Amino acid sequence: MPSTAFSPVRWEPRIYRGSLELTGRVRGHVRRDLDGFPAEVASDVELCVSELFANAVEYTASGGEGGEVVRAMALPDAGRLRVAVTDGGFTETRPAIPELTGTDWFESERHRGLLMVSALALDWGFRSVIEHPTLNLGLVVWADFALAAGQAPSGLPRFIHAA
Ligand SMILES: Nc1ncnc2c1ncn2[C@@H]1O[C@H](COP(=O)(O)OP(=O)(O)OP(=O)(O)O)[C@@H](O)[C@H]1O
Ligand SMILES: [Mg+2]
Repeated sequence: MPSTAFSPVRWEPRIYRGSLELTGRVRGHVRRDLDGFPAEVASDVELCVSELFANAVEYTASGGEGGEVVRAMALPDAGRLRVAVTDGGFTETRPAIPELTGTDWFESERHRGLLMVSALALDWGFRSVIEHPTLNLGLVVWADFALAAGQAPSGLPRFIHAA
């Protein structure tokens, strides 16, 4: 019987200066890295990565002098594509979908980023880069996207170098 075992795939992480001016480049890299995947999957991932990148720049040390943001991506199994955005931390806040009520939803132009991620992704969350009792030394904010059978191009190598 032919083997149907799936070998996990990961892309070389991409590293950016923590500047919102780079958002277009961040989005372009997602499209390039997901060449061969269905356009709707690529555009969902692109949108979510740009929101996570913006949050890293706006709320963490990534947006300060010398700050950076790392975007990683992997296929941990055949039905799931995971993106992860690592920030510089040093902030009191944590990623959370704000609790808006009633008309706030319609009137607020802001606080939509993670709500959109939660709507498009199978699941999302975050973890500390390094656990510390009091300090946030940086977070890995991740989102998983569903892949139906055959949506990942066949023959991907286990490690994809950034082109
Ligand atoms: N990487 C992060 N580190 C620390 N706090 C974060 C991070 N990302 C988001 N947050 C917190 O979660 C809140 C909600 O983020 P979200 O992206 O949903 O909305 P927003 O950034 O306030 O508005 P929008 O994305 O619509 O411009 C932020 O206001 C911030 O307090
Ligand atoms: Mg945001």
